[in-house]
Amino acid sequence: MQEILLFFARWTVNIILGGFMGMPIFLFEAIRAAIWAKSQDFPTKPKPLPKSIARRFLETETGLTMEYLSSTKETDKIAVFLHGFPDSPTSWIPLMLKFQNEGFQTFAPTQRGYGQTRSNKTDEIEDYALDCLRDDAASFIENINSGKKVTLVIHDWGSVVGFHLARTRPELVERVIGINSVSLPAYNETALTNVRQTLASFYIYVFQFPIFPELMWKMNDFALLKAICCQMAQRGYGQTRSDKTDEVDDFALDCLRDDVASFIENINSGRKVTLVIHDWGSLVGFHLARTRPDLVERIIAFNSVSLPAYIETALSNRKQTFARRMGTHREDVEDVMTGMGARTRPSPFTEPINWYRALGRVALKHAVKHKPKSFKFLRQCAVLDKIQIPHNVLILWGDKDIALIKELPENERKYISGDVEIEHFSDYGHNMFHANPDLVWKSIQRWMKKQ
Ligand SMILES: *[C@@H]1O[C@H](CO)[C@@H](O)[C@H](O)[C@H]1NC(C)=O
Ligand SMILES: *[C@@H]1O[C@H](CO)[C@@H](O)[C@H](O)[C@H]1NC(C)=O
Repeated sequence: MQEILLFFARWTVNIILGGFMGMPIFLFEAIRAAIWAKSQDFPTKPKPLPKSIARRFLETETGLTMEYLSSTKETDKIAVFLHGFPDSPTSWIPLMLKFQNEGFQTFAPTQRGYGQTRSNKTDEIEDYALDCLRDDAASFIENINSGKKVTLVIHDWGSVVGFHLARTRPELVERVIGINSVSLPAYNETALTNVRQTLASFYIYVFQFPIFPELMWKMNDFALLKAICCQMAQRGYGQTRSDKTDEVDDFALDCLRDDVASFIENINSGRKVTLVIHDWGSLVGFHLARTRPDLVERIIAFNSVSLPAYIETALSNRKQTFARRMGTHREDVEDVMTGMGARTRPSPFTEPINWYRALGRVALKHAVKHKPKSFKFLRQCAVLDKIQIPHNVLILWGDKDIALIKELPENERKYISGDVEIEHFSDYGHNMFHANPDLVWKSIQRWMKKQ
């Protein structure tokens, strides 16, 4: 009885969070992204692979012809990288190169439903259930590991699969490195006990609906994907790849800045000026000082604020969740899209989104078909709660994640019996290893030395 109630409660939440809250947000964001993307310059071709990494294919026991990237040199230590959504194995390349320098042979499979990986049948939503995805990964590892344990490097959905693998096939795994990573039990617990996580997960509820999410993602040459992934170079700083890169459209601000710059150039006869600024004037003034330093001698500011500082402050209470971006560099977005199969699969989002649908809909089918007692998803979670991950785990966490709150990794501890180390990075978002692979590598290297 309790399980039936829980089931209806979940679907009521789905309709409220997904239908009434999520769909309008998604639609609004997609339209905004479509307008925004028109003025943006994105590369149209993916980058070539580095010399030491090749694209290959293998057949898994689970019926996949699995595409993967791997280092061309064989060594005896192995690292396997599992990507998330929306992402691609190519995003791992900078970290793969670092691991290779450290003597690892690296492998990054393209998981079920993504890129050039193909199933030998037409997959149903059930084929994206966590156990199946785990079996794909396990079979992949058994194909390439020559019996050795592997270091798992996991992110986003790749981490749900990776933690599940570490928990249920521990003999394949040596250690786990998670980057904004989450396991099913810890996610369940956080989403049920912290309303901020429930709200941040609204998109998962949107994904339970058919057709609509795919349509939004694909609109205007994947504008929404570009907008959500994209870490924008701050205007005026050209191609800056600084870790402090501003993440907000400041087109309007640029116009105001240009007005003022032009005004000053009209009146200053080439001399630098003292700027006295306040309120909105200070947003413009700081922006001017930042981007046209040649015009400004000094600044006197009353209750003034610059855009980066304002955004940082405003966002630290999570009210403007969607203004944040995930942290993929603009020049890498085409790689992500191509790696996902955006240019080659007829419906590039359906299958990745089916990963989410499998969580919800598989549960629905089982509940309807069988007695609620065999409600598979819940049973699976309940069982998982009790199996601990025996390996040492490092979790690196970009606190500005739009989808997963920063309290989440702490909840991971009780499901892991190995040593757990968690490191937070307050300046980074969901894809912190896209944004700054060097920083991520420093932490990984330090941790691995201690092992
Ligand atoms: C797909 O591959 C799996 C595993 O090799 C096999 O058991 C299954 O029969 C295959 N299915 C089809 C339709 O070929
Ligand atoms: C999900 O998390 C809640 C809160 O911690 C817990 O009571 C419940 O047993 C969990 N459910 C499953 C299926 O793991």
